[in-house]
Amino acid sequence: MYANSRVPQSAQTGIHERLAELVDRHRREPFRKPVLDYNRAAFDAAMAAWSERGNEAPLILDAACGTGASSVLLAERNPDCFVIGVDQSEARLTTGKGDLPANLHLVRADLVDFWRLLAGRGARLERHCLFYPNPWPKIGHVARRWHGHAVFPVLPQLGGLIECRSNWRLYVEEFAFAMGRLLGREVGWQEFVPDEPVSPFERKYRDSGQALYRCEIDLDDRRGAA
Ligand SMILES: C[S@@+](CC[C@H](N)C(=O)[O-])C[C@H]1O[C@@H](n2cnc3c(N)ncnc32)[C@H](O)[C@@H]1O
Repeated sequence: MYANSRVPQSAQTGIHERLAELVDRHRREPFRKPVLDYNRAAFDAAMAAWSERGNEAPLILDAACGTGASSVLLAERNPDCFVIGVDQSEARLTTGKGDLPANLHLVRADLVDFWRLLAGRGARLERHCLFYPNPWPKIGHVARRWHGHAVFPVLPQLGGLIECRSNWRLYVEEFAFAMGRLLGREVGWQEFVPDEPVSPFERKYRDSGQALYRCEIDLDDRRGAA
């Protein structure tokens, strides 16, 4: 049945006690896992599509875009930008593929490699969306949440307006805490009500009557998003 989704259940009641130590370790020790060939090929294809549109177009990354519905919306709302939607699930991406806006490229890749390739190329993002990442709510799974993962320190290097949304308050609280620790400044988060859901998961959670949370940080210290 639709609209009966549940908020992630967790024995964890506050910011994970190991999170600060994990973030500090990941910042100290560069992540050296080799990049896989299929991710490099996907990255090269995405960069080629971007350059076909003219490399001047500001870049929006829809990280873990699922079906890409949010990527389509971002592309339509930001016609001057080029949007790359990345998801590791071919099945999800295929569900979404129809006629795509010309300023959008959907690609199957593992973000752990895609993010590092972007940073290695010196790419700067205009906007960076992490809509409803898998929450990994079990206490022992903290290192699978993006902010507990070794790749996390790469994210602020990409700049732009970065936004994480979740229906699990603790995920967003932790994201803000971890980003604040990397940036050396206070980072806030808030509950919000979407006017128009940006993605299928947002729609499902909203229609299930759940509270939604987001953390938005302007890494370039500019203001405003379209
Ligand atoms: C809960 S869904 C959210 C999808 C979409 N953002 C939305 O809001 O509807 C989480 C998505 O993250 C993707 N994902 C998880 N780990 C990933 C990774 N390492 N690289 C790329 N995509 C990943 C999954 O395939 C899945 O589509």
